[in-house]
Formats: sequence, C-alpha cells, structure tokens
Amino acid sequence: MWNWFSPKGIVFGEGKAASTGLFARQWGRGRALVITGPFLRRSGVVEPVLQSLREEGLLGAVFSDIPSEPTDRHIREALGLFRRERCGTIVACGGGGPIDVAKAVSLLDANGGAVRDYAGVGRVPHPGVPIIAIPTTAGSGSEVSGTTIITEEAAHEKLLVISMYLVPEIAILDPLLTYGMPPALTAATGVDALTHAIESCVSRKATKLTIDFSLRAAGRLARFLPVAFASPDDAEARRECLLGSLEAGIAFTNSSVALVHGIVSRLVRELHIPRLRDLLSREALDAQLDAMVREAVASGSPANNPRPASPEEIASLYGEAF
Ligand SMILES: [Fe+2]
Repeated sequence: MWNWFSPKGIVFGEGKAASTGLFARQWGRGRALVITGPFLRRSGVVEPVLQSLREEGLLGAVFSDIPSEPTDRHIREALGLFRRERCGTIVACGGGGPIDVAKAVSLLDANGGAVRDYAGVGRVPHPGVPIIAIPTTAGSGSEVSGTTIITEEAAHEKLLVISMYLVPEIAILDPLLTYGMPPALTAATGVDALTHAIESCVSRKATKLTIDFSLRAAGRLARFLPVAFASPDDAEARRECLLGSLEAGIAFTNSSVALVHGIVSRLVRELHIPRLRDLLSREALDAQLDAMVREAVASGSPANNPRPASPEEIASLYGEAF
C-alpha cells in the first residue's frame, strides 16, 4: 500500500525558465510574488523568470532578502509583501532556501499563526496558494517535496514542517540555471541528491515505484556528477544531474530519507558545517553528544533505516565522523 504525491506539472528543459509566465497564467491565482536569493537576483540568473512574468503582466513583487538560513522573520516580511501587493501566486527560484520560504509563506497565508504551529508531519489543515518552484541547484529536491525548514529566531530552533500541501503546484527545471554553480556547490548539492537516491532506495518506506526512481537517480548522478564537477558547462552533465536530483526528490518525497539525513541534518542545516572536527573539540562534542543523538532520533528518519540504529550506535557514528 502506498501514496504518491508530486507537483501537477513538471517542466524540464534548457530555456524553460522563460515559460514561467505562461504557467503562472495557467495555474496561478493572479500576480506572482517572486522569492529568490540576493546573488541570483544580482547575477541575473532569475532574469528569464522575471521577464516571462512581466510579459504576462503577472510580476507582482520580488523578495530576495533571504540568507542561506531563512528565519521566521523573513517569512513574515515576505508574507507582508505578498499581501500588500495583492499577489495570488508564489514563484520560488533558487536553492533550498527560497523554495523553503515560499512554502512557509503559502502555508501561513492560508492557515495563519506561526510556522511552529505546524512543525511535524501532516499538521497543516489547508492547502495554500500555488507555488511554482524553479531550482537553481541540482540537489535539494525541494521543487517536488512537501518539506520546509525554517529557523525560529527567538528559540534558535530549526522547525521542520512536512505536509503534502507544501508540494509545489508546478516544478520548472531549467538546466541552464545550474551552470553558474561553482564546483564545490555542484559537489555538495549533488552528493545530497545522491544520498536522497540511496536512502530512499533502502528506506523501510520504499515502494516498487519509488525504488525505480531511486535507482535511476543513483545511476545518473554517479555517472554525471563527476563530469559536472570537472566541466561546469557540460550540457549533458548539467541536464543529467538536474534530472537525477528530480528523480531522487520524487523518490524520497514518496518514501523517506533514513539514518544519514537523520544524523547529519543538525550539522548541515543548523551548523552549516559538514565536518564535526571543524566545529567542535572532542570535549565539546562529548558534551553535546546526548542532545545530538536525541535530535537525530526525534527527526524520525533513523527509524526508516533498513537496519535500525540504536542511540548508542548513532553516538558511535558521531564519534567516528569526528
Ligand atoms: Fe538532503
């Protein structure tokens, strides 16, 4: 028995960002708030998206004041702009951050309250305005997932909301938007996608359908990620990596991630650091170890591992990573 959730439309191809306006007219509910990052706006990566919305008369406003770690303050600001400009559609263009913000704005516009009220799995009562998601990295899978992560400033806490109401309406994947990624970002986001593929494949919640997507994604990324890393303008490699990231995103949305995402989420998302040793002395690690293990278990992902890991085993993995 299984369920399957994905955007109503997935549009893929070089130059397809220029069709954003068309999809906003067909699937949106009026003018669009574009949510993107400051670099993407400055560098012009988002320009084809903006231009196509202008041509349709649907460009409401642009919100690009988003750091790598968006907080509830950014959500409130973006929601204020969305309402002042009387928008009815959200277009998110960027890596995970802008797409996470878009999901939270849509969520709070429809349901009121604060992100904290909906933290957890399946706690969102009503769907929000449609989101058109346009990734500029090949990794997070956020353009097809029902997940958002927002930091609450007051509590200094990352809030994870998972709801199928957060799955974007339309995903537009234009490989040209990923050419500007430097090799280190190509590698980091690509390995994230490869991990989605592997974890969703072995997850206890995997189904025959998700496994097909996982395996195709893993094969594609294993073959083409090194090429995209070495040759950032290689059209085939950029296309295949974006497709692999999409397949992996569809797979984990309909199965789950597992132990790896469970134990690294705090390191990568909260502390922005891939290596424990860059962050902590051994003594500091030992002092935080219990809390880290508790958080990893509470994330729910380790329970989907093919072989469940005990708290002691998770603690020893942190020790080994150090
Ligand atoms: Fe990930």
